[in-house]
Amino acid sequence: MRLSIALWVAAALIPGVAAAESIGMTPKLDAVPPPAESTAFKPDPNLVALGKRVFFDPRLSEPQGTSCAACHDPGRAFAPTLKGEALRIGVPAGSRAGHMAARNAPSLLYLRYVPQRYFFQDDDASFPSPFGGFFADGRANSIAEQIRGPLFSPDEMGNRSPRTLQRKVAGTELGQALTQQFGADAVRDPERLVGALGKALEAYFQSDEMAPFTSRFDDFLRKRTPLSPAEMRGLALFRNPDKGNCASCHLMVESSSRPERSLFTDFGYDAIAVPRNPLLPANKDARHFDVGLCQTARALKWPEPDQWCGYFRTAGLRNVAVRQTFMHNGVFRTLRDAVAFYATRSTDPAQWYPGGKRFDDVPARYQGNVNVNAVPMNRRAGTTPALTEDEIDDIVAFLRTLTDARHVALMPDPAADKARSAHAPRASTKTAAIRPDQANTR
Ligand code: HEC
Ligand code: HEC
Repeated sequence: MRLSIALWVAAALIPGVAAAESIGMTPKLDAVPPPAESTAFKPDPNLVALGKRVFFDPRLSEPQGTSCAACHDPGRAFAPTLKGEALRIGVPAGSRAGHMAARNAPSLLYLRYVPQRYFFQDDDASFPSPFGGFFADGRANSIAEQIRGPLFSPDEMGNRSPRTLQRKVAGTELGQALTQQFGADAVRDPERLVGALGKALEAYFQSDEMAPFTSRFDDFLRKRTPLSPAEMRGLALFRNPDKGNCASCHLMVESSSRPERSLFTDFGYDAIAVPRNPLLPANKDARHFDVGLCQTARALKWPEPDQWCGYFRTAGLRNVAVRQTFMHNGVFRTLRDAVAFYATRSTDPAQWYPGGKRFDDVPARYQGNVNVNAVPMNRRAGTTPALTEDEIDDIVAFLRTLTDARHVALMPDPAADKARSAHAPRASTKTAAIRPDQANTR
């Protein structure tokens, strides 16, 4: 890893935390911003209601029929419910026939805690690291900026431009509601319309409805319910720096009864080199790679941006047990595989990378960026993994406690999940496809 990072004095600020310097166009903070308290969010109820309407409106896509909720299903913790071809490939389908999203879609619950982008250098770190920003590569820094992604991507909602979107909204009752809230210009001027939609959606995402904290783990934190022995063992392994070491990236504070301290991500980035998903349309081209954060680094003029190729934002793990596919490229089909990957990526790479081609989704010239130092991914090939099979089961049992009450019934039976563990993904549709009888757990 190249460490030299130039610093410049800049004016960019994150509210409440002073930044004396910046790295490229991103502020460098002297302290990690404290996690926002749940009570800090007081969005205007009218805006929340309007944002909710926008979120579920299927007319906003081209062709019509694909709302935000089509890929962020409220019945699945606002992660996608995949069917048919989308389930086979592992990522959601867009509004246009045959178009698939380039990545897996995350849950949108707890989105209000995602901070704006910043750099921070820990005392024991030799260089500053980036945090925050929306998307797996942090390329958007606000909801207003973020929604341009889905609205104008040909692979998602397919609108050609703010102008065509504006023509669609003007004259509808949604247009009237937006006029009432933001004034007539917000519906007449295409750019303002995108801003208004962003403001409304942001308010919806800030509402308590989008941050329920109703999981068994939350009740455990509040000392209202115990966890089972297997779940407690899983929690201990998750935190133990010599075993799972998961909490070093998937941050949690067991001693705090405030659940917003335990979002199971520090919003940092890492290169853990998940296997390539050969079924993604773009991956038909062997030269195509999704390199993640370094594209953002280039756009924001961070020095030596290539050092961030292969980095993706650490996923929050709340409601992870109701996901159908895992990681930014949807390569894993069971939670157990996602956990087992960490245990044996380094000790038995052939189990995960077809033909033993280690780090097959990171271009050769960036493979030096891959994290080979963090437990449990730091062992030599052929040595004993840091986690036994039983310990992997315990961590899965613990992760299942992070499911909000409303979604508990969606969790697959752990034994069935284990039985269909696929390990190394295969390009052949016959082996990679999930059999229909296993496809849905509902
Ligand atoms: C066709 C499927 C699809 C539709 C429709 C869609 N999204 Fe997404 N969404 C995705 C995917 C895929 C990602 C991850 C993309 C990435 O990381 O680059 C994503 C990511 C996001 C994120 C970032 C979350 C985070 O933690 O950083 C937000 C916020 C979001 N979507 C909101 C919306 C909103 C609002 C709409 C409607 C205007 C919408 N999405 C419509 C597929 C979709
Ligand atoms: C060095 C940091 C780091 C450590 C340690 C780590 N993770 Fe992760 N985790 C990540 C990153 C980064 C991602 C996103 C990777 C991607 O999408 O390609 C991720 C993704 C995941 C996902 C997929 C979530 C989703 O929504 O698809 C699961 C599950 C997960 N981690 C569980 C664990 C467990 C269990 C452990 C401990 C055994 C662990 N992680 C240790 C950084 C880490």
